[in-house]
Amino acid sequence: MAQQEDVFKKIVSHCKEYGFVFPSSDIYDGLGAVYDYGQNGVELKNNIKQYWWQSMVLLHENIVGIDAAIFMHPTTWKASGHVDAFNDPLIDNRDSKKRYRADVLIEDQLAKYEDKIQKEIEKAQKRFGDAFDEAQFRATNARVLENQEKFDALHKRYQEVMNAEGGIDLEGMKQIILDEGIVCPISGTRNWTDVRQFNLMFKTEMGSTADGASTIYLRPETAQGIFVNYLNVQKTGRMKLPFGIAQIGKAFRNEIVARQFIFRMREFEQMEMQFFIKPGTELDWFAKWKETRMKWHQNLGFGAENYRFHDHDKLAHYANAATDIEFHMPFGFKEVEGIHSRTNFDLSQHAKYSGKKIEYFDPETNESYTPYVIETSIGVDRMFLSIMCHSYEEQQLPDGQTRTVLHLPAALAPVKLAVFPLTKKDGMPEKAQEIINDLRFHFNCKYEEKDQIGKRYRRMDAIGCPYCVTVDQQTLEDNTVTLRDRDTMEQRRVAISELRGIIEDKVNITSLLKKLL
Ligand code: GAP
Repeated sequence: MAQQEDVFKKIVSHCKEYGFVFPSSDIYDGLGAVYDYGQNGVELKNNIKQYWWQSMVLLHENIVGIDAAIFMHPTTWKASGHVDAFNDPLIDNRDSKKRYRADVLIEDQLAKYEDKIQKEIEKAQKRFGDAFDEAQFRATNARVLENQEKFDALHKRYQEVMNAEGGIDLEGMKQIILDEGIVCPISGTRNWTDVRQFNLMFKTEMGSTADGASTIYLRPETAQGIFVNYLNVQKTGRMKLPFGIAQIGKAFRNEIVARQFIFRMREFEQMEMQFFIKPGTELDWFAKWKETRMKWHQNLGFGAENYRFHDHDKLAHYANAATDIEFHMPFGFKEVEGIHSRTNFDLSQHAKYSGKKIEYFDPETNESYTPYVIETSIGVDRMFLSIMCHSYEEQQLPDGQTRTVLHLPAALAPVKLAVFPLTKKDGMPEKAQEIINDLRFHFNCKYEEKDQIGKRYRRMDAIGCPYCVTVDQQTLEDNTVTLRDRDTMEQRRVAISELRGIIEDKVNITSLLKKLL
């Protein structure tokens, strides 16, 4: 685990050192849980967005895109339930003055019991080897039984307070924290305040106060921009059910526990698609979208074992199925995408609050009804992080050296081809530029002439550039270059005229999209 944490720290510093991700307002020492994407980061991020957008809008005739404004009428958030219920339960430690999410403190305590059980199992596994029977050990070992009992009791109490009638039982939550003897990790004390609800939406004002300013919110999800445009798109696009609306855009949440770099941010980007369907068909569509989305992830070639579904036991009152797609990050399996069967909750709420009829007239049955919705919702930044974590490698080379390489899928890499003149003379730089001038219309190319070739290769490895080309004396004679592959480091001599044909297919998003069909 400690080793994994070290790797994660290295990935974070690599992101900064190579122009992928910087802390926001870095010269002022950053801003908590807000980040800027640098020259390479923005290219990778744009490629992720393109892969998602095209897989939705290009590959599905019945999915169209929109780009709704971040600011929305304040009633939107009343109707969606965010004003009343988009809260985290918070608790402060009076000694350290640190603020925590009460539910996270309790979940960490549950994880501690699980860890203790796991450690006992691992110890016994080592001791008994192949003869080890885990089920029997769990059922008989005193320490495991004791921790399991504590886990079950706490889990039961936690479920009760979270699902109390009328919302979370805040007093009950505090009592659990006290009874479990949970201490503040900073002060080490149990001097806790009461638990209070804290709304995660950022507020601002629109218009001057004299005009009668109104409080508006920075959207905490892009989905509502789709729901309020359902009628506009359905009518103007003459869309027939089932159909989807896709959107990519910024979302904002005043996260209290902002952890793990770009995993939990206060300003982030979502790629959401709402798929409108006939009521009664939702569980079939839910299963279909689960499969489609998992295929999209696994298509990147990171190995099926690094993904899993986490089906929700506890559903929001309006949902009748929900799952997360989790990816194996260095800090465990974590949610990257949510897939939710949201019934007709959102459209019905907007109909109620706006007074407009938001329905679909089904020409096949001559009926009007409020469509049901399957939502797929993925965070661009989490996707970015999962790609970075999986691609990063400190590789030992046969000659004893090491290199840091990002094995990014070529179609997502920020730079596809780097072109180096071997020396800065004899017309080599001009020849290299000529190659770039020809290829830059087809994919992103970069010219590099500084330092010796080995160092230039390393710099390109570190940003995940899949191909490097070197122009040398022979190039000037026969128009061939050496083409080096990032992953195998193999070099081969190819004609300049062949470069586009060799590279283009592998580095364009189309190469990924074709594998989805
Ligand atoms: N419209 C549904 C919705 O917003 P969610 O599970 O709250 O659902 C969907 O968010 C996805 O957005 C998550 O799976 C995650 O990838 C991303 N996300 C949510 N909060 C985030 C945060 N604070 N920082 C980065 N990404 C976040």
